[in-house]
Amino acid sequence: MSNRMWGGRFGGGPDDIMEEINASIGFDQRLFAQDIRGSMAHCAMLADKAIISKDDAAAITDGLGKILAEIEAGDFTFTRSLEDIHMNIEARLAELIGATAGRLHTARSRNDQVATDFRLYVRDTIDHLSQQILALMRVLVAKAEQHADTIMPGFTHLQPAQPVTFGHHLLAYVEMLSRDYGRFIDARKRLNENPLGAAALAGTSFPIDRHQTAAALGFARPTRNSMDSVSARDFALETLSAAAICATHLSRLAEEIVVFASPNFGFFNLPDAYSTGSSIMPQKRNPDAAELVRAKSGRIIGALTGLMIVMKGLPLAYSKDMQEDKEGTFNALDSLSLCLAAMAGMMETMTPNTDAMRAAAGRGFSTATDLADWLVREAGLPFREAHHVTGALVAEAEKQGVELAELSLDEMQKADARITDGVYAVLSVENSVASRTSHGGTAPDNVRAAVAAWHQELSVLENQETPA
Ligand code: ARG
Repeated sequence: MSNRMWGGRFGGGPDDIMEEINASIGFDQRLFAQDIRGSMAHCAMLADKAIISKDDAAAITDGLGKILAEIEAGDFTFTRSLEDIHMNIEARLAELIGATAGRLHTARSRNDQVATDFRLYVRDTIDHLSQQILALMRVLVAKAEQHADTIMPGFTHLQPAQPVTFGHHLLAYVEMLSRDYGRFIDARKRLNENPLGAAALAGTSFPIDRHQTAAALGFARPTRNSMDSVSARDFALETLSAAAICATHLSRLAEEIVVFASPNFGFFNLPDAYSTGSSIMPQKRNPDAAELVRAKSGRIIGALTGLMIVMKGLPLAYSKDMQEDKEGTFNALDSLSLCLAAMAGMMETMTPNTDAMRAAAGRGFSTATDLADWLVREAGLPFREAHHVTGALVAEAEKQGVELAELSLDEMQKADARITDGVYAVLSVENSVASRTSHGGTAPDNVRAAVAAWHQELSVLENQETPA
């Protein structure tokens, strides 16, 4: 009798467990479209090279088309005992067209088949994610355009540092996202080689044409080494790295939404569509979507780490360990897609509380650097000395409980006799941000120029043909 606490599942004996651990159909069924695409390309090539007959190829292609329609319509029964998507489809093909189905697997193995399917899947996903990144960039650029003049505190150490414009702050994330976009596009270029025809690991004695299948599947060229072809998963690792870095950027923005939308800051108002209430505290308005974007970076980074660890000890060529590449990758890329969509929604619908931001920007002696710079520029002090004089004035203002601009000229001149009343002009936050016109600086004019440049660049990227 089996153990009463844990033996229930042992009814079918150990073979059932073997089947459970071995089967991937539960998750790799999502590769069905790529699997059928790959099989159709392989089949056409086999016929062109007279490895199978034209009639057999026609029957196989017809059957595969029917299977595709069945799966898309939800009429296909996936069977665990058939292990994976490749054998589920091949078994159904045999039901539909008989023994001819068995010719499809000539000159290939599931090892090159799964490598091909997975590359196609990751490539399709990169194409989708990269468009989503551009869409989020558009949202942020539009917000930045509206808020080129909106003043907020800029922080270092989350301590008020210098006033900045909200537009400039948003464009910092546009920069990050543009690099994320570039990383995905780079990963796509290296990924885009055809492993099909590597067969189990050594290639094949059949006169196949791997250039033909590469072209049919939109790959730039065939992979060069059959052993590498079936055992490489760095295309997935590289894509997951790009995803993990992108998720980290989204998480930082999410963190700022959480902090800035809290009543203690009061900088951001989140719309109802992206907030939730509390079941017990009626006054609450929680930034759940932002918190979940912040949290989902965990599973995305986890998927990268997980697959790194799966791969790091594997000898050449294929090992079944590699079947573990899929769930984490699917989950991470799905999650990133959801995070990009949620972030675009949140940032499109949020409204900044410009009064609260402006007021906070003026607090905390945020124009102290402007005062020091004025002393250098107008009074000829070395910067270090100017820093010291400014420090003394900050201490004096702090003692009196006033802002720098509220100190009298007398008090200023006590710290340094060379100060004139021209200094007051630089102590306003408006003048502070307007003066930051250095390349990449926060001035409203800079923001407007950057926004215009981004509009142009995004139009180019959006209309770009997917690179081969
Ligand atoms: N389901 C397998 C995977 O995802 C397909 C390849 C199986 N190859 C093998 N030699 N058992 O990796």
